[in-house]
Amino acid sequence: MKVTIVGTGYVGLVTGACFADLGIDVTCLDTDSDKIDALKAGVIPIYEPGLDAIVERACAAGRLSFTTRYEFAIPDADAVFIAVGTPPRSSDGQADLSAIMASAATIAPLLCGFTVVATKSTVPVGTSSRIETLMRRAAPEADFAVASNPEFLREGAAIHDFTHPDRVVLGVDDRRAAEVLREIYAPIEAAGVPVLVVDRSTAEIAKYAANSFLATKIAFINEVADLCESTGGSVDAVAHAIGLDHRIGPDFLKAGPGFGGSCFPKDTQAFVKTSEALGVRQRVVAAAIHANEARKLHLVERVVEASGGSLAGLRVAVLGLTFKAGTDDLRDSPSLVVVPELAKLAREVRAHDPAGLMRAREQIEGPVFCADLRKALDGADVAVLLTDWPEYKAMDLVEAAGLMTGRVLVDLRNALDIAAATAAGFSVFGVGRSEVRGAAPVERMTAIRRARTAVQAAE
Ligand code: UGA
Repeated sequence: MKVTIVGTGYVGLVTGACFADLGIDVTCLDTDSDKIDALKAGVIPIYEPGLDAIVERACAAGRLSFTTRYEFAIPDADAVFIAVGTPPRSSDGQADLSAIMASAATIAPLLCGFTVVATKSTVPVGTSSRIETLMRRAAPEADFAVASNPEFLREGAAIHDFTHPDRVVLGVDDRRAAEVLREIYAPIEAAGVPVLVVDRSTAEIAKYAANSFLATKIAFINEVADLCESTGGSVDAVAHAIGLDHRIGPDFLKAGPGFGGSCFPKDTQAFVKTSEALGVRQRVVAAAIHANEARKLHLVERVVEASGGSLAGLRVAVLGLTFKAGTDDLRDSPSLVVVPELAKLAREVRAHDPAGLMRAREQIEGPVFCADLRKALDGADVAVLLTDWPEYKAMDLVEAAGLMTGRVLVDLRNALDIAAATAAGFSVFGVGRSEVRGAAPVERMTAIRRARTAVQAAE
């Protein structure tokens, strides 16, 4: 079996490397020659734990190769998976399909023998039919079937999600396509994973519905967190209590700074917009998007409150900038809104992240970026934890308190041990917890603010 993957982003590269690891002969194609040159030299252009070892192993076994040339990669393939980007269109928020359509048009005349052309990219319902029409026009004689094979990989856990998926969804309108795709996924199916063969529209809708549902779950629990903050109660305990109901389930009920990343914000928006264009309203998902957006500025207010009502004159340390731990991705991260806002209000913001600093320097205005966590904490009055990196959970809180001046800790992921932080001298604020542990910081913060403002005025 020979497979070509078009696009070497998160989805394409992980899929290609993992297929090769299953024993399939894979060519990864990308028109970006810098990326392909890097991959040929063994450099992985994305941060995904475990991926480098799999790429190295598959290349050494001669099952994974890279090219920029469609004419080399397409004719021999039994299946071509398109995994190029589908960013939101600036005009209307629907998915921009130009890259996927351009790729399909290039592939069509190069096909040789029966070939499955499957979309891995997240695409709105009806896209497979549009691709098929375009390809039939471009190459009327070609023998191919268009399929939809959505991915459900999480960044940072993509290898695990590929090898141990909850399900594989194959959207096909052609029996031969189903046979080829099932053969490719045979080792995964043999491990007991359900492989669902459905029509193409069902597969396309399933992908958007899955992401929209998970995003809605997060937006919901974040509003429950707001209620806990104002009335008492702990959101983590509420999530546990409702999550034990098997109809609800425990996952994606972790309150935090709101969902971000390359998928949920873009896919929820595209789901709403595409549905609207078809005359169907998605009020529930639209509300989840709205709640998520509003949350980011609301959290800045929480930091201000926790700091005694104002950040003027204070130094803030921000811990974590990526949209979640385990990735260097900052796309639609809450930090993109929260950090510049804090920088406007505070005397100084120092931001640390174990993997995202390079990208953050290009995308976030206002803070001083620190590669060393201690440097970010040194002299800070308020520490705001935005991403639950293991480094922060393992942080020596006594040392952190010793480095800081103000000792206010705003843990927007409920990641830290409150008792240990309180014992270290911090006033600790979390998400969805009404109680504040530690001494009320108002007088101390006011004194610090006054002193710092006086120094600033003298400068
Ligand atoms: C998401 C889906 O989980 C994948 O199944 C899907 O394949 C992928 O999008 C995609 O469409 O490509 P990903 O964006 O990598 O994966 O990240 P998640 O782990 O799902 O987290 C998304 C956001 O939700 C993050 O900002 C995270 O911090 C937040 N989140 C997640 C919470 O705030 N609470 C939770 O309980 C879970």
